[in-house]
Amino acid sequence: MSPHDNETLKTIRNRRSIRSFTTDPVTDEQIRVLLEAANQAPSAHNQQSWRFIVLRNEKKQELADLVSSRANEFPRPSSALLRMAARSIQSAPVVIAVANTGELISHGTDLFKVDKEMAYDFFRTMEIQSSAAAVENLLLAATSLGLATVWLGILFLMKDEVLQVLGEPAGEFMAVIPVGYAQRDTGGPQKQPVEMRVKMLD
Ligand SMILES: Cc1cc2nc3c(=O)[nH]c(=O)nc-3n(C[C@H](O)[C@H](O)[C@H](O)COP(=O)(O)O)c2cc1C
Repeated sequence: MSPHDNETLKTIRNRRSIRSFTTDPVTDEQIRVLLEAANQAPSAHNQQSWRFIVLRNEKKQELADLVSSRANEFPRPSSALLRMAARSIQSAPVVIAVANTGELISHGTDLFKVDKEMAYDFFRTMEIQSSAAAVENLLLAATSLGLATVWLGILFLMKDEVLQVLGEPAGEFMAVIPVGYAQRDTGGPQKQPVEMRVKMLD
């Protein structure tokens, strides 16, 4: 192995979005490992302003039913993406949702001095960025265990209803992540070469 390669970098390269799953179960221990990895992410002021909601059985079905029943109310391509999201939720043995709690938004100014006009925007952005780090940790931990995932952001379009199903009506929608074993691995899309996304400044 090259000194510039290791298991972590391999896991990062191997992660890809998978949208249909086998019926093989995900164990409670695997779920715990994913949640621990997510909770280990960096967070603004170490406030961990996230909540992880694990959906199985009837609750997972309730979410799939909500998404498929409302999909046709949206124009294309959202309707198609929502139908696909509903199928992913349905086929995965477990779904982990992530919501921001809003705690940093409410109490951030006790910890950190920020201009009043800036405060809401600042702390909300910090919550979103913290939760995004937690989501990526969860996706990478899943990959490292041989599990497949997809980050479903499209459910933002019906976020209020989704947050109701999650029991987090006061939270902010971040992600819904079906977790299971890949039905098929299509290899994932090509990425643009990193050089196209980098600017070096000296
Ligand atoms: C914020 C965010 C939202 C996403 N939302 C969706 C989604 O709603 N439905 C979906 O199928 N994939 C979704 N994805 C997955 C992307 O389509 C996927 O990451 C991208 O095509 C690159 O493929 P890869 O993950 O296999 O590298 C989302 C990814 C991110 C980061």
